[in-house]
Amino acid sequence: MRKKKPKCVVVVGAQWGDEGKGKVIDLLTEFSDIVVRFQGGNNAGHTLVVGGEKFVFHLIPSGILHETKRCVIGNGVVISLGVLIDEIDALRKRGYFRSDSQLLISEQAHLIMPYHQRLDLARERFQGRNRIGTTGRGIGPAYEDKMGRSGIRVADLLDEGVFRRKLEASLLEKNFTLTRFFKEEPCSKEEILEEYGVFRSRIAPFVANTSVFLNEAISEGRRVLFEGAQGCLLDVDHGTYPFVTSSNTVAANACTGAGIGPTCIDYVLGVSKAYTTRDGEGPFPTELHDETGERIRARGGEYGATTGRPRRCGWFDAVVLRHAVLMNGMSGLVITKLDVLDEMEKIRICTGYRYQGNLLRWVPANMEVLKHCEPVYEECEGWLKDTGGARSFSDLPLRARQYVKRLEKCIQTEVVAISVGSDREETILMKNPFS
Ligand code: GDP
Ligand code: IMO
Ligand code: MG
Repeated sequence: MRKKKPKCVVVVGAQWGDEGKGKVIDLLTEFSDIVVRFQGGNNAGHTLVVGGEKFVFHLIPSGILHETKRCVIGNGVVISLGVLIDEIDALRKRGYFRSDSQLLISEQAHLIMPYHQRLDLARERFQGRNRIGTTGRGIGPAYEDKMGRSGIRVADLLDEGVFRRKLEASLLEKNFTLTRFFKEEPCSKEEILEEYGVFRSRIAPFVANTSVFLNEAISEGRRVLFEGAQGCLLDVDHGTYPFVTSSNTVAANACTGAGIGPTCIDYVLGVSKAYTTRDGEGPFPTELHDETGERIRARGGEYGATTGRPRRCGWFDAVVLRHAVLMNGMSGLVITKLDVLDEMEKIRICTGYRYQGNLLRWVPANMEVLKHCEPVYEECEGWLKDTGGARSFSDLPLRARQYVKRLEKCIQTEVVAISVGSDREETILMKNPFS
């Protein structure tokens, strides 16, 4: 009997974010009908390059360039309305997103309010050396309010009376903390009411019960692509806590964050770079503090799509990937940025950690331990050839193929696609998750 074709595919970052999820989503949108963001907010920066034209999306799903497809911002996302509206306007100026029907926003999604961002920034300043290195977008404080049941949702914004009442209640507490604890200026209720009054009318056309929309679409046989943000090691439960983001980034959260059941998911596609990067603070065992790290940063253009900060760079870490394979129930993996290693004479793969004479095969939960883990490396010969033009696996130089095969073996997961450049075209798709 033929296996049924996957309809719901979740794409997740398998490292510390910035793996190239945006490019993968854009590429696979062609084979799907709907693209859904289900967690995170505008801490995400997803880059796509199409025919040399570059786009960076923070909140809008990365399928938006395909005008016949629908994009959904699910209930699990925290939304900074100013950023979302700027993104909509910028796309329209460039001739994209011409029909309102291309985007649906969940009425249950929570809003990132100005005080969330102010608190995020104030806390980071206050923490000094112990800071998390957040993106400063108010993500943590917004999710705290959601869990604390004092958040403001899209549905609340649409009801002027409810919005005013909830805002007043929040400001009492937030302004107390801002002024008394952090010695900052308070947030003005009148300014927020005015600004959010404009936002209300701008987003109203997109607001919907996205959970019902998705469930109906799935039962009609539509194909859905779920777009993860951040990466497994930034997951609030399964990442390098507390150096994580404030949401679950693993595939399971596609269900909660979009309002569908776990039985809907057919395939989980992980995305990993051929090496490792990290934005922000926290342990990073394979980080390179030398000239090799600099070379990767320069060739890979490793600067934050959201923050502009130089990303920390290091070798591929199979311990991290094995963790991601497990935590996501990964069906297959995309390796991105293979081309960035084209000029490396030697390439290393971390296969385990050494800690106080013991060999660790899994990521320890104690950050003091992780901080002192020594990576155990195996070394491969570089291929020293250009891979950017490869469009099939056999086009790759032998040593590049051997490197990919070695990664596959180390993490016991099939590599189904390889990216060899930032453009949509610069991809080797060996197995399409939708077929
Ligand atoms: P995301 O957050 O996972 O979507 O990743 P980002 O967009 O933050 O970072 C990935 C960066 O690498 C972007 O600048 C992409 O354009 C770029 N990129 C993606 N795939 C490749 C690739 O295979 N090769 C190269 N050289 N760049 C790539
Ligand atoms: P995409 O979707 C890389 C990191 C921050 C910080 C930590 C907490 O583009 O892969 P937050 O602002 O979320 O409270 O910051 O998480 N971080 C990311 N790093 N890519 C991202 O998103 C990230 N989103 C958050 O650098 O270390
Ligand atoms: Mg990014």
